[in-house]
Amino acid sequence: MSEKIVVTGGCGFIGSNFVLEWLASEEAPVINLDALTYAGNPENLASVGGDPRYTFVHGDICDGDLLGRLFAEHRPRAIVHFAAESHVDRSILGPDAFLKTNIDGTFQLLKAARAFYETLTGEEREGFRFLHVSTDEVYGTLEPDDPAFSESTPYAPNSPYAASKASSDMLVRAWHHTYKLPTLVTNCSNNYGPFQFPEKLIPLTISNALAGKTLPVYGDGQQVRDWLYVVDHCTAIRTVLRQGRPGETYNVGGNNQRANLDVVQTICALLDKLKPGARPYAEQIKFVQDRPGHDRRYAIDARKISGELGWAPAETFETGLRKTVEWYLANGAWMRDVTSGAYQHWMEKNYGTRDVKADGAENAKVEDRR
Ligand code: NAD
Ligand code: DAU
Repeated sequence: MSEKIVVTGGCGFIGSNFVLEWLASEEAPVINLDALTYAGNPENLASVGGDPRYTFVHGDICDGDLLGRLFAEHRPRAIVHFAAESHVDRSILGPDAFLKTNIDGTFQLLKAARAFYETLTGEEREGFRFLHVSTDEVYGTLEPDDPAFSESTPYAPNSPYAASKASSDMLVRAWHHTYKLPTLVTNCSNNYGPFQFPEKLIPLTISNALAGKTLPVYGDGQQVRDWLYVVDHCTAIRTVLRQGRPGETYNVGGNNQRANLDVVQTICALLDKLKPGARPYAEQIKFVQDRPGHDRRYAIDARKISGELGWAPAETFETGLRKTVEWYLANGAWMRDVTSGAYQHWMEKNYGTRDVKADGAENAKVEDRR
């Protein structure tokens, strides 16, 4: 039986960490299908470029013919589906790409996977898996005292991104229920770590702090996220792939609930120690206009994956965040490469129109401080 796996979106943040972690821990080869959108960076995988077990295929998950040829040629034993548009703010300003990739792309992938699965017999058929990587955002928002999201929490997606991911989860569910495709779904909380594109809160804060720019905190900064170090997410996915029961979903989280303002202040304190500037980095924090429809709190109940499959995260928020800040400090060239060009247009589009709040300059735009 082929041991190869196909990964989609392996040049993105979590996908590239997954490919690196997979090749370091498993024998089996990986085929990485990625369209290389603004979020895909083949440089993330430069260190495995010479590994004969690694193959990169440049292509779009919406291209059904390509998917059919890819599966027929490589005969994977599993598909691990990361490829998506992943940034909530971009989904608010331009939802089209989210519906295209996250819904239609997942549909095309399910169709091609099913057609391939139908050709399998015996052990190959028995062992085949389709693992869909999803998010806790499908469950909507929590009040401060609500219990954390479990696998039976009703779906209530609030942003175009969350709605597109919820739709893709529903398609995966239907392909299992109707066609018996052996699917697995993971719904994970906020990831952070190496190779995260600096449009997301943690790398944006590090990047802006070091560049002497403002650190934008949306609204009152008291929105709560449950943070998980990305390598822990990767080990969770490998665990579910190996031991998960087809048709099941598994919530993945780090049990690290933190308010956004605390996260930004903690990063500033770490930078004050590791790369001291002329003044404390926290002076660069600015409260800015909130994200429309901003979910107040996410929290994950990960008892199913820990109890049934024995998975637990290796990092605490403190150890993971320190590793992350150290990685960005050691990889300034990576940051410079990804923040050139189109990134500047995004920063202007997302932040140029947000009024600064709570500092007496109600109508001022967010600007660099130095
Ligand atoms: P990312 O935006 O960093 O990377 C997405 C990758 O998908 C990029 O390499 C991009 O080029 C590729 N891609 C996009 N559209 C494509 C298409 N049509 N065809 C082929 N490739 C395409 O995303 P990420 O943060 O690494 O997230 C990966 C997955 O994990 C997503 O499905 C996301 O919903 C999910 N997730 C993310 C988080 C998080 O905190 N980042 C948490 C839970 C779940
Ligand atoms: O919960 C899992 C989700 O986490 C994933 O499904 C998404 O793909 C991923 O992007 C992430 O979504 P968030 O919207 O939670 O992540 P983001 O880093 O964009 O924002 C984290 C929090 O910080 C959120 O409450 C918004 C806030 N924020 C974000 C940015 C970019 C700010 O206050 N200022 C900012 O400039």
